[in-house]
Amino acid sequence: MKIIMLGAPGAGKGTQAKMIAEKYSIPHISTGDIFRANIKGGTELGMEAKKYMDQGQLVPDELTVKILLDRVAKDDCKNGYVLDGFPRTIPQAEVLDKALSELGDAVDYAIDVDVPDENIINRMGGRRACVTCGATYHMVHVPPKQEGICDKCGSELILRDDDKPETVKKRLDVYHAQTQPLIEYYTKKGILKSVDGTVDMMDVFAKITDILG
Ligand code: AP5
Ligand code: MG
Repeated sequence: MKIIMLGAPGAGKGTQAKMIAEKYSIPHISTGDIFRANIKGGTELGMEAKKYMDQGQLVPDELTVKILLDRVAKDDCKNGYVLDGFPRTIPQAEVLDKALSELGDAVDYAIDVDVPDENIINRMGGRRACVTCGATYHMVHVPPKQEGICDKCGSELILRDDDKPETVKKRLDVYHAQTQPLIEYYTKKGILKSVDGTVDMMDVFAKITDILG
């Protein structure tokens, strides 16, 4: 099963993708997480990506597409995967479709987690992410057991650099201009499913599992 998660920054793509990956035993692939791991590791790719991410801009397609295609060619992707944060532009979607069609394959579902902009700003300020394992929390909705400490691995929780309110606003503008057109793209292909992302995250997940079966 090949699944794409669509939605604004902070809509809950990552939250849902992790649960989907676990339930269906497929890898969760987040281009944002790959870039952040590279930034943390001080790689050349990380340094390049950081320039764009800190501004709330998209990393150029040339860089992003290569990383993604390398990742989905790995053995663990044979039975499918859930993509979180890719594609984010029409050219990225076209590259993915072309690569899959060359293998006689295609994306099965594009799930749009729908959350209005007003809710997003509030969510992002409350998000905290683990510096080590990447687990995410929300100070109000999903608090860790001990403030500032990851439940899973005991490391420190931080506010992501790009979750500052002015950067979130920029990311939303970029989303509307460059990523939202994918909703029409996948609607035309007949694989778009929209879910209300404003309700409790377990209710969002229940809607998604109804769709995926
Ligand atoms: P990326 O890491 O993908 O960030 P994003 O799309 O902006 O999305 P987020 O991770 O911020 O949000 P999310 O939808 O995963 O929400 P989450 O589940 O955490 O990308 C970062 C940057 O990398 C981009 O800006 C770009 O520069 C670059 N990049 C990445 N991919 C790229 C690509 N393909 N091309 C070019 N550039 C690329 O939830 C948010 C918060 O809300 C959490 O605190 C969570 O606990 C809480 N929450 C979740 N669900 C609910 C709910 N139902 N109710 C209440 N709270 C909830
Ligand atoms: Mg995410």
